[in-house]
Amino acid sequence: MPRVKQTGRNMLFVIAVVSVYLALVISPTDSTADSSYVAAVYEHKVILNPGPRTPVSRHEALQHMQKNLDIYEEQAARAAQQGAQILVFPEDGIHGFNFTRSSIVGYLETIPNPQEESWNPCTEPERHNNTEVLQRLSCMARRNNLYLVANMPDLQPCPLKTSPSSTCPPDGRWQFNTNVAFRSDGLLIARYHKQNLFFEQSFDTPPEPEVITFDTPFAGKFGLFICFDILFHDPAVVLVEMGVRQLIFPTAWMNALPLLDSVQFHSAFSLGANVTLLSANIRNDQRIMKGSGIYTPFSATYHHAWKGDPEEGRLLVARVPVLEPLEVKQSAAKEVEAGGVESASSVATDSGCCHQDSCDDHSPDLVHPSHPTFISFMFHDPFTFVLLNETQGDVKVCNGTFCCRLQYRWLLQDHKELYALGAFAGLHTVDGRYALQVCAVVRCAGLDQNSCGQVVEEAESKMDFLLEGNFDTKCVYPSILTSRMFLEQPESLQKAPDGRVTMKHSNMKGGLVTTCLYGRMYHLDNE
Ligand SMILES: *[C@@H]1O[C@H](CO)[C@@H](O)[C@H](O)[C@H]1NC(C)=O
Ligand SMILES: *[C@@H]1O[C@H](CO)[C@@H](O)[C@H](O)[C@H]1NC(C)=O
Ligand SMILES: *[C@@H]1O[C@H](CO)[C@@H](O)[C@H](O)[C@H]1NC(C)=O
Ligand SMILES: *[C@@H]1O[C@H](CO)[C@@H](O)[C@H](O)[C@H]1NC(C)=O
Ligand SMILES: *[C@@H]1O[C@H](CO)[C@@H](O)[C@H](O)[C@H]1NC(C)=O
Repeated sequence: MPRVKQTGRNMLFVIAVVSVYLALVISPTDSTADSSYVAAVYEHKVILNPGPRTPVSRHEALQHMQKNLDIYEEQAARAAQQGAQILVFPEDGIHGFNFTRSSIVGYLETIPNPQEESWNPCTEPERHNNTEVLQRLSCMARRNNLYLVANMPDLQPCPLKTSPSSTCPPDGRWQFNTNVAFRSDGLLIARYHKQNLFFEQSFDTPPEPEVITFDTPFAGKFGLFICFDILFHDPAVVLVEMGVRQLIFPTAWMNALPLLDSVQFHSAFSLGANVTLLSANIRNDQRIMKGSGIYTPFSATYHHAWKGDPEEGRLLVARVPVLEPLEVKQSAAKEVEAGGVESASSVATDSGCCHQDSCDDHSPDLVHPSHPTFISFMFHDPFTFVLLNETQGDVKVCNGTFCCRLQYRWLLQDHKELYALGAFAGLHTVDGRYALQVCAVVRCAGLDQNSCGQVVEEAESKMDFLLEGNFDTKCVYPSILTSRMFLEQPESLQKAPDGRVTMKHSNMKGGLVTTCLYGRMYHLDNE
């Protein structure tokens, strides 16, 4: 068990701002309309050390990091001018990436634990040596009078105070990929060590998952996590299940269409978990890193650069509603025992995810595939597909007992574009192990069915649809991605107590690239 810790369109240079409403879920009298705050995220084109695998002196490391911090300084001032109360910078944005365990040493600072010590690096710089980056970030928060979250590398001596019995790394020190949060007067209020590393040679996995939140006077509680963490249970789902509704997410996200592009998946997480996600990404075209946003369950303010756009930073600022903590609910299934499976109870029964045992007993649907199926790989996973080549249809495809159904009607059918409905239930094992149940409608890359599941970014065809799957998890993340990286908010979304999730949408504005219901079977990750 993790320990719980608490502290405190297609034009160049255009920001896509999409604000649509889930009319079905939100009533006009919703209390969240009462209070709001202004959030900002900065997508940063990180200035890299050209030789990250060669150790450098502290002086050289600082000279490098000051270049990125100079840009942070400008952006913090701009954010403050626009009224931002909280500003988030991306993962790796100060130091960069591709270090080895020893080449990063000059970049490390020992970040004091804010739960043990109250320290304002800006006003008390002498208290801890070798903390120039912390001091600069703290002064940035203080000067601009905003809460600030940034990511930096942390060096902790072994044994760890918070986990004295854990085995030391062979070189006797812990090195963590770390988020730090500062109050608007510069006080260091939270420190979170990344749990789910993505091939980061320079860092250690914390011996125990950390669940870290901090409080603000304008919006209550925020939770912290980092990049690859968003795909796993700890700490992301732990925070959600604790009722934390506002999550801060520095990332260096490498886009992976058709299902895991930044804006697509990050907005899907926000919608599926019914939380606000402040997502700040790196901009680095060579590494396919781009796409940041301020996502709430009702709106998305995001930026996703398109081919040919200049490789540069982008500040996003948006006023968003305060999300009050939801009552941590008991199993929603109880409410329906009398009602039977047909009573697709409305969405408001729970806050997204569930523990493994509360939703694993539904009766498998009858399987009668009326259309020929084929297998094609999508991001290394063998999806079972059916083609959507009629002018309208009601098709179903299964992978084992997991079934996906699509009712569709083309509004605009470009016959040079092939589409398919795919289902996958199984363990994804390339670049990470995570168990999935996914229903996805994709535009295939070509007219050959073997191209279904490959990367496509543009489309003309539009359909009205209802997509449904019978999931064995309540953690299902829905998304609609249209041509050139634009998001649409589903018209309606329903989760039934038996695990069925239904997404309906009509009158699409853009051509359909992918729509999916991305279910995470966290409890099967280690099987
Ligand atoms: C990161 O390091 C690896 C191993 O040395 C190298 O192959 C790769 O090109 C580097 N990537 C970047 C973006 O520097
Ligand atoms: C900081 O470093 C200086 C010089 O090495 C040393 O004299 C001083 O005691 C150190 N201060 C702290 C708080 O560790
Ligand atoms: C999502 O949150 C809103 C507002 O906080 C609430 O009214 C709604 O019932 C929640 N929806 C779900 C599916 O839990
Ligand atoms: C759609 O594809 C199926 C399977 O390849 C084929 O049997 C059917 O004739 C096609 N229908 C149309 C309208 O092209
Ligand atoms: C899903 O389909 C793949 C490919 O056909 C198959 O290997 C796998 O066993 C299926 N999964 C389930 C849960 O039946």
